[in-house]
Amino acid sequence: MTLPSRWPAVLQAVMKGQPRALEDSHYPQWHPAPVTGLMNDPNGFIWHAGRYHLFYQWNPLGCDHRYKCWGHWSSEDLVQWQHEPMALMPDEEYDRSGCYSGSAVDNNGVLTLCYTGNVKFDDGSRTAWQCLAVQNADGGFDKLGPVLPLPEGYTGHVRDPKVWQHNGSWYMVLGAQDQQKRGKVLLYKSADLHTWDACGEIAGHGVNGLQDAGYMWECPDLFELEGTQVLICCPQGLAREPHRYLNTYPATWMSGDFAWDSATFSHGPLHELDAGFEFYAPQTTLSADGRRILIGWMGVPDGEEMLQPTREHGWIHQMTCPRELNFREGKLYQLPIRELARLREQEHQWQGHADDAPRLDAGRLEFTLIPDGPVNVNFADTLWLSVDEQGIQLRRRSLENGDMLTRYWCGKVASLRVLCDRSSVEIFINDGEGVMSSRYFPEHPAQVRFEGAPVITLRYWSLRACM
Ligand code: FRU
Repeated sequence: MTLPSRWPAVLQAVMKGQPRALEDSHYPQWHPAPVTGLMNDPNGFIWHAGRYHLFYQWNPLGCDHRYKCWGHWSSEDLVQWQHEPMALMPDEEYDRSGCYSGSAVDNNGVLTLCYTGNVKFDDGSRTAWQCLAVQNADGGFDKLGPVLPLPEGYTGHVRDPKVWQHNGSWYMVLGAQDQQKRGKVLLYKSADLHTWDACGEIAGHGVNGLQDAGYMWECPDLFELEGTQVLICCPQGLAREPHRYLNTYPATWMSGDFAWDSATFSHGPLHELDAGFEFYAPQTTLSADGRRILIGWMGVPDGEEMLQPTREHGWIHQMTCPRELNFREGKLYQLPIRELARLREQEHQWQGHADDAPRLDAGRLEFTLIPDGPVNVNFADTLWLSVDEQGIQLRRRSLENGDMLTRYWCGKVASLRVLCDRSSVEIFINDGEGVMSSRYFPEHPAQVRFEGAPVITLRYWSLRACM
């Protein structure tokens, strides 16, 4: 059954679901999360006419990956988000299997959404259309229909348009899979958002000598940062390495030079964007004052997500906190946006042996930690972080079979900055040189405990609830 015929069920689900979700002790208090159902990728992230808009992949009808709509939040300051009416639902022939991910642009003052209309056929095949929708006078969105069919030489997996303007032209990157089932990023150019010319493959298998780079690249985003071009994307099918790419699907970045006249991107190696258990499909935009801001989905599409206990309360997944990006000495740095400091309550400071440190309430918490030797941070006996000379190990039990799982960040750890929100932890290492984002499902009230003989220097704040 298609979603439109179930429209009354959607209203019911939202009305009934929200109180249930809010009662869940794991429901975030300062991160955006769905009022009911499943949320995945951030979409259409933009500052437009004095407000930030953040759309998201949303199945309001259940905690599985079906019926993808575009949910919508808006915010004045990137901290306090308000729910807006649903922006897109899959009610046309060309998007009947889902209004898949995409971006938003300001086209002469008109907020315009660029998204993928996904169509699945009974024989298991699929096609995809890149589509437009524009905001109307009521704040809702009118679909303008497809502007780009499936290009030749690729399978039905061509999606996730990220569109931006440069020197008076529109550009679009798309994630794609070629006929040999290899992942690519395609570039297009347009004068008016309606007619698009192919400029070729700018990244993926065979470009810049890259081999064995997975079978599909999702959610590309190309932007300039401090004079360097950065491409973020999610290559599916990358081989796991001992210390990286350990999630079912990773998010990566690479940097280099983009030649606009020949539309070629000469880039360096792939790097993992976030080394935690849950992080995928990030998207960036420019803030009102020109900072490059990234938000990611604190989730990964895999079997383990379907075991998360919040599903019993009718909702699943949340966003990361917005992060400011910087590029220094060949490295991408990510830090929580400075606006988040507005949520801080009274500041506390403490120094001494880790074993003697105060226990902190993990509900809504920010702390910074400077370790003077190997220390452990125990998040409610559910998630364990250890710092040693090699770097960081983050451990938790598999929801599937109870096995201990580990994620790694390798390098010397000078400082940590950690953000907690009921069922999530975001760990920023060395002023943003590395990040590990993870969900965990402790019993509340939950405590963060510090363990080890070395001296630690702590600053900590409890954070105000704002969602
Ligand atoms: C990434 C993704 C996108 C797609 C969307 C569908 O998580 O698979 O490629 O557009 O999710 O919800």
